[in-house]
Order: sequence, then C-alpha cells, then structure tokens
Amino acid sequence: MGKLCWGLVVVLLLAGAGALWKFGVQGETEAAADGRLAVPLSAGGRDHVLREMRAFLQAAQQIIDAANRGDMTAVAQAARRVGMAATHDVPAELMRKLPLGMKKLGRDTHRRFDQLALDAEQLGDPGQVMGALADLMRNCVACHDAYRLTVAPAAP
Ligand code: HEC
Repeated sequence: MGKLCWGLVVVLLLAGAGALWKFGVQGETEAAADGRLAVPLSAGGRDHVLREMRAFLQAAQQIIDAANRGDMTAVAQAARRVGMAATHDVPAELMRKLPLGMKKLGRDTHRRFDQLALDAEQLGDPGQVMGALADLMRNCVACHDAYRLTVAPAAP
C-alpha cells in the first residue's frame, strides 16, 4: 500500500473512533444553561425515563416505610420492582441516545436495588437496608447533578 493509502486508513480509523466516541460514549448531549448536560430525546423517550424515575421514587418511599415496620418481605418486593428486571423493555432509542456514563449509573442503580432485595431477605436487618438505600441514592443525586432531559424536535 502506498503512503496515500495508509493516510486514508488512518483518517478512516480516526473518523470511526470519533463516531464511536460521539455516539457510543457521549451520546447526543449538549451543554444546558444550568451547567448540566442536556440529553435530547423524543417525547416518548423522555416519558419512558420519567416514568422509570417515578418508579424509583416510589420504591425508595416503600423501602423506607417497610424497613421502618421491619417488613423485610415488603422491602424486597419494592426493591425488585425497580431491579434489573425493570430494564428489559428499554426502548432502542434510549440505548442509542443516552451517554455511556448515564447508562452506567442507571444500570448500577437497578443492580443495587436487586442487591438490596437479596440482603433484606438474607440479613433481615432494617439498619442495613437503610444504609444500602442511602448509598444507592448517591446515584440519584449524582445523575441529577450531571444530566437533564430535553425533547428533540421530531426528525423530518
Ligand atoms: C442515570 C441517571 C439517573 C439516575 C441514576 C436517577 N435519575 Fe432520576 N432523573 C434523571 C433525569 C435525567 C431526570 C430528568 C431531569 C430533568 O430533565 O431536569 C430525572 C428525573 C427524576 C424525577 C422527576 C420525574 C418526573 O416525572 O418529572 C424523579 C422523581 C427522579 N428522577 C427520581 C429519582 C430517584 C429517586 C432516583 C434514585 C433511586 C433517580 N431518580 C435516579 C436521571 C437519573
């Protein structure tokens, strides 16, 4: 291969790496006025995320309530409802558009709810549940600090 060809290969590789970075890692984010990263989604995609969020909030409330009453079965049930099983119907749009860091935080949060459910059943310790929930909720805080959602104009 001549020099020109190698040059072309390098340019193509760089373009490929750039595209991977843009779409695989960064997603389609843009800086928002409040200092966070805005993630543009379709109206339906945004509704899906927010519905999932309200389920997170409801689970947190139910876990606190159940742990307070010492009802470990109810703790485990509430936590499992927002565990990894809740991620199976995630629309392809979200997999494509959410930045990698956000997906990781989201995944870790679902995983921690499953772990919390398991520990509640096996240890039966309300204090342990509250500690795990407090730790897990650092993910809520971190993600809300970093990202917000916007509705992108529908593609033509
Ligand atoms: C991976 C990122 C991420 C994680 C983790 C996360 N959230 Fe969110 N949440 C968001 C984003 C983004 C929004 C939209 C914020 C905006 O556009 O201003 C949101 C919005 C919400 C809303 C508003 C829902 C609505 O209908 O308007 C609630 C409530 C909420 N989150 C609760 C939680 C709770 C509780 C947790 C933790 C158990 C959590 N979230 C974890 C990203 C996350």
